[in-house]
Amino acid sequence: MQTSSSALPIGRVNIDEKEMTSMKGKIVLVTGGSRGIGKATCEYFAQSGCIVIGTSRTPEKVQNPPAGCSLLPLDVRSDESVKSCIKTIIERHGHIDILVNNAGIGQYGRLIKATPEDWISVFQTNVFGVHRVTVAAYPYMKNSYCRIITLGSLEGETGYPYQALYAISKRALQTWNDSFDFEQRKEKGPRFILLEPAWVNTGFGLTDDIVNTEPDTQDPYARIAQKLFPRFLEQYGINPIDVAQAIFTIASMPKPRLRYFIGAKGAILMGHSLEDLLTIAYTQPPESMLAFMDLLSEIMYKADQSDFKIFKDNKSIE
Ligand SMILES: NC(=O)c1ccc[n+]([C@@H]2O[C@H](COP(=O)([O-])OP(=O)(O)OC[C@H]3O[C@@H](n4cnc5c(N)ncnc54)[C@H](OP(=O)(O)O)[C@@H]3O)[C@@H](O)[C@H]2O)c1
Repeated sequence: MQTSSSALPIGRVNIDEKEMTSMKGKIVLVTGGSRGIGKATCEYFAQSGCIVIGTSRTPEKVQNPPAGCSLLPLDVRSDESVKSCIKTIIERHGHIDILVNNAGIGQYGRLIKATPEDWISVFQTNVFGVHRVTVAAYPYMKNSYCRIITLGSLEGETGYPYQALYAISKRALQTWNDSFDFEQRKEKGPRFILLEPAWVNTGFGLTDDIVNTEPDTQDPYARIAQKLFPRFLEQYGINPIDVAQAIFTIASMPKPRLRYFIGAKGAILMGHSLEDLLTIAYTQPPESMLAFMDLLSEIMYKADQSDFKIFKDNKSIE
């Protein structure tokens, strides 16, 4: 398959299982373990013999907490909350082996309508939150097998219409991840890896904490984009367990790369240039745009059924 991005290691990576680091007994912190990718990740690591701490802003309200894990209170927007969460973990376990920066929020609306407060809201969770937790956890991650795995997004690879603040926040994480790793590489300590999924079937974008820069928009494109997004995740998104497995595989790799990419539909998109497809889609009249996006989804879905599968098992990444 041809890809339009040289930054992403798309292509088969063979992993020798004998070289994989054993995860048994490792102390794993997953931010945002109450649902979606975070919950699936907590359970995957716990089932693999790790000691897993998931988090939620309101753990007391979580109906189905991740099985086999503890769930601590954490709001990544608050210094105090982050310090208290890390303190509790260190008192209990003494150190952290794997940090999964998963907590994140979505955004809808046109960029032209975004206020500085909207920017801050999105960045407060998606970027400053990741930095806050990482800086607090870092002193307790002093082994060379420690890993800091952060959830980016396919949307961070290109401009993305009507979710631009979200896309920009995920783009910022690319530079954050790589810079942090370069700076700290000479020290004995964690490696930094950014995992960039395409669509994943979770309730992302449906919760109250989404930042909507124009909730009552009359712009037909913005309205369609907002309606389409949850549908895309549901109909064409990969299973959160696939992402959990990818995170686990990356955590076990002796020499991980700086960035990985998951989501077969996303791979198809990249292969055909996401920029080109979005340019076509968003310059159609609104009715045709809907039809175009549906057609595109069909093509991606069919292709996914056949050739392209990322992380088929623990041994290979396509
Ligand atoms: N779903 C996708 O298609 C997709 C694609 C690419 C990347 N991603 C990224 O993957 C990550 C997880 O997405 P998801 O789909 O699993 O989302 P989700 O189902 O909405 O779950 C989000 C998690 O983040 C936590 N959270 C939100 N704000 C927080 C805060 N201020 N402090 C601490 N925790 C907070 C939530 O916990 P509480 O509400 O319990 O506090 C929840 O556990 C996000 O970073 C997202 O950007 C998702």
